[in-house]
Amino acid sequence: MGMIEASASTGTGTHGAVRSGIAPQPLLEVRNLSLSFATAAGALPVTRNVSFTVAAGERVGLVGESGCGKTVTGLSLLRLLPAHSARIEGDVLFDGTDLLKLSPRRMRAVRGRDIAMIFQEPMSALDPVFTVGDQISEAYRIHFPAGKAEGRERAIAALREVGIPAPERRCDEYPHQLSGGMRQRVMIAMALICKPKLLIADEPTTALDVTVQAQITDLLRSLSERTGTALIFITHDLGVVAETCTRMITMYAGEVVEDAPVDDVLTRPRHPYTSGLLRSLPGLSKRRGVLASIPGRVPSPQAMPAGCRFRSRCAHAAPGCEQDQRMIAIEAGHAARCRRAPDLALPGAVN
Ligand SMILES: Nc1ncnc2c1ncn2[C@@H]1O[C@H](COP(=O)(O)OP(=O)(O)OP(=O)(O)O)[C@@H](O)[C@H]1O
Ligand code: SF4
Ligand SMILES: [Mg+2]
Repeated sequence: MGMIEASASTGTGTHGAVRSGIAPQPLLEVRNLSLSFATAAGALPVTRNVSFTVAAGERVGLVGESGCGKTVTGLSLLRLLPAHSARIEGDVLFDGTDLLKLSPRRMRAVRGRDIAMIFQEPMSALDPVFTVGDQISEAYRIHFPAGKAEGRERAIAALREVGIPAPERRCDEYPHQLSGGMRQRVMIAMALICKPKLLIADEPTTALDVTVQAQITDLLRSLSERTGTALIFITHDLGVVAETCTRMITMYAGEVVEDAPVDDVLTRPRHPYTSGLLRSLPGLSKRRGVLASIPGRVPSPQAMPAGCRFRSRCAHAAPGCEQDQRMIAIEAGHAARCRRAPDLALPGAVN
């Protein structure tokens, strides 16, 4: 199999476009995004040269263990990190516009209207003193001219769209009157009310019980399919990515280490870290316990090793791995940050 040097951005958009050889115009193109925080001890780098693309309507899973930089990457895209301490470098091209260069006012217009984000704990994002209908209506009226009556009509329609029964009644309820699953549906309704082109969902089901998790995941996928909203699904759960997404991006210690179509990466991961995550996955492979196949832990930003950041945990480490690794494209649409990626035959979750 031929080996191709990866360019700065290794994402390739949708399957069909890759196979037909037409380079799709990405909706989002993240280039060399590096984030550091100012601390008393100096700048603390947290992510390094994160590059990927998301095509219109595409669903991309962003995975990796705790502390790998998934949330800060999502927050960086929307410039939601504290301005006094976070320093972001690189480009975040959304529909061709660099979001990092927009004025604060123009950035506020993008948030919620073009790109929306939902989080793990819906209660913290909902205001307890306003009805859910008022909050959904307000999310619309910030961006579009509409009176209260139209806002309410739109809120009811949005609640219906996310599968909330009796939306006319629920519209007038307060967040505490709803279950956790219903609150997350309200958050999704609020996020999608302006028909954004991209939704970033950061662990949206972690706080919910297992049955409700599956319902919310199904809802996100079907809404994305129906409305054409692209999705960046941040999760620990590779099973969710397998069921929901078309592409998977693996992050490790602040870097993208693999970027691949889901079908390919499940059967043939190219980075030892992704392979370890997949082999630890209950349900898709034999149940071995969480990350039983990867010894050790993610290095902290304060103690980041030189060279391949996964080296101390990697069963395949060899001379040369002590050098910094770059993304290598193994085949169209599939790249990994590992010098051995082209030769290793690594087990996936589906063999
Ligand atoms: N405000 C901050 N100041 C300093 N360091 C931070 C800040 N926010 C996050 N970090 C550090 O950035 C790194 C990445 O954190 P992040 O929350 O993005 O991880 P994550 O992949 O989302 O993990 P999890 O799966 O637990 O949500 C961590 O080492 C974290 O300690
Ligand atoms: S570069 Fe070396 S240490 Fe790093 S993942 Fe590849 S084989 Fe393992
Ligand atoms: Mg997180």
